[in-house]
Amino acid sequence: MMLILHQDEKQPREGNTLQKQGDGMGKKTDEIVTLSQHLKRSGVDPDLRRLITSFAFVALDAQHQFPKYLRGTMGEPNKYGEAVARLDEWVNGYLCDRLIKTGLVRKIYSEELKEPLLGHGGAPFVVAMDPLDGSSNIVSNNAFGTIVGIYREDLPQKGRKLVAAFYKLYGPVNTFVYTAGSGTHEFVKHYDGLGNAQFLLLGENIRIPEPGEVFGLGGDPMDWSQAFLRFAKDLFKKERMKARYSGTFAADFSQVLHRGGIFAYPSTKKSPRGKLRLFYEAQPMAFIMEQAGGASWSGSGSLLDAVDKDVDARVPLYLGSKALVKKVKKALE
Ligand code: F6P
Ligand code: MN
Repeated sequence: MMLILHQDEKQPREGNTLQKQGDGMGKKTDEIVTLSQHLKRSGVDPDLRRLITSFAFVALDAQHQFPKYLRGTMGEPNKYGEAVARLDEWVNGYLCDRLIKTGLVRKIYSEELKEPLLGHGGAPFVVAMDPLDGSSNIVSNNAFGTIVGIYREDLPQKGRKLVAAFYKLYGPVNTFVYTAGSGTHEFVKHYDGLGNAQFLLLGENIRIPEPGEVFGLGGDPMDWSQAFLRFAKDLFKKERMKARYSGTFAADFSQVLHRGGIFAYPSTKKSPRGKLRLFYEAQPMAFIMEQAGGASWSGSGSLLDAVDKDVDARVPLYLGSKALVKKVKKALE
């Protein structure tokens, strides 16, 4: 059943009355605020505002067409040697095409592009994205997402240079979580009375709970270092936390952001640089996490300070509640 919410209906949204700082849901608000209103009142500059809202709606339009591309893989693997689902290929093409049409993007780097795509020469922004994060979950209809980082300067760059980052989660409901450098904010898709989609504010200034209750750890435990294995055991035994791992970074990240805890795709014996990609996944999510009061670590410092000459580089990734990131550092350093 489709939820119809008229924008002028001042309905209290469920859950809001329970929200408080540090509960992972953001500041209590009964106001109905759209994404573009929020960006404007947060003082985000008009071009960036336009790019973020266009992206949110383009990703939404794309989702309407997902059912057509659910099955099949492309003949050729991507630049990482991984199989490319038909949906991966289609979403990448659709997002790139529509982004270029905004006239605001001069270059797009994507996990699914062998070479960056050139947009408009004088345009203000450079985009790095994972167009369809978690494609192994397409077949089972588990959540997957889109992860995006926006820079003014060309890559490679430190994550500190990000001007905005967001992820979209195509879950039971569609959420859009962004930061433009002043807090992390979450929106959810609704339809107004005319059937037009809107992203409405669900939680402002989300603060990740401390110490947190869930964790997701990627990779083969038999390939983890002894120190990381001990840390993982302690999460069960000492911290008494719950394991939650779906295999979609955006979805697993979202659990940690809202419930507190830690997500890691560590350095392993076979893959010392882990699996996740520095520019397409790690930097944007680290920005969102640190803006929500959490921490990130690459094995040598914040993920926002990690840099690599190779735009396709992978990076060991640890992020979540501050206390747990401190513990993983202590365990591995
Ligand atoms: O983008 C890579 C990715 O699909 C992430 O979304 C996810 O966290 C990870 O790979 C899952 O990897 P694995 O299948 O090794 O657990
Ligand atoms: Mn991914």
